[in-house]
Amino acid sequence: MTNNFQLDLNNIPKHVAVIMDGNGRWAEKHGKNRLEGHAQGAKAARLAVETAHKLGIKYITLYAFSMENWQRPESEVNGLMSLLTSSIAHQFKDLIENNVRLLTIGDNSYLPENVRKEISNVVNASSSNTGLTVIIALSYSGRHEILSGVKKLLTKFQDQKFDINSLSEEDFSNCLYTAGIPDPELLIRTSGEYRISNFLLWQISYSELYFTNKFWPDFSEEDFRYAIYDYQHRQRRFGKTSNQIDECK
Ligand code: FPP
Repeated sequence: MTNNFQLDLNNIPKHVAVIMDGNGRWAEKHGKNRLEGHAQGAKAARLAVETAHKLGIKYITLYAFSMENWQRPESEVNGLMSLLTSSIAHQFKDLIENNVRLLTIGDNSYLPENVRKEISNVVNASSSNTGLTVIIALSYSGRHEILSGVKKLLTKFQDQKFDINSLSEEDFSNCLYTAGIPDPELLIRTSGEYRISNFLLWQISYSELYFTNKFWPDFSEEDFRYAIYDYQHRQRRFGKTSNQIDECK
């Protein structure tokens, strides 16, 4: 990574999505247990939120727990659930003071009752905040989200018999967990894995992808800024040619 880079503050992405990967390998590398890796990961998540806030990013989506993660050993799942609730509860005051809104996306029905309650307290208390929106993907699966969007549309169709041919991409987006939230311009994944892992499948159709070998607990403010710097040097063509993009400038 170059040490000397200048961010263009007029070209900050509105929405950044993050696959926070590598907590387990970070722990292994430091001779610690996996839950200690996740605890460091929670610190890195807080730092990423602070950096997003400083840079004026409007939305940050953090992939904290996938539907597939329910298959991990029970002790790790329980540890992650209590880490998530305690992290969110601890940061309640700071979130409110900094005008941050908290949302979650995912299938809440799988979450233990106490986790659901704790999170919905913070979501409700922060619902009128107008600064950064932090979206935690929890018990989340992109395919599950798309399927539940299809089910919503079919139910609506049964009730209203609207013209199927009039359905737009926007109508479908409005049936997803992320209704009303702009698609991420940038998706970051740490830990040297080059996969999407069932994350925001519909929403990232034109996102710029940024991969780094760093494990999530090591992902610093500088790393986050560099990912944005890298994004700022991409040409986003949305299917057009470079010449067409240059002509519009
Ligand atoms: C992936 O690392 C990380 C997770 C499954 C959990 C992410 C959770 C946190 C960062 C903690 C809490 C977050 C918030 C928002 C408070 P891994 O376990 O898959 O790592 P590995 O691939 O190296 O085993």
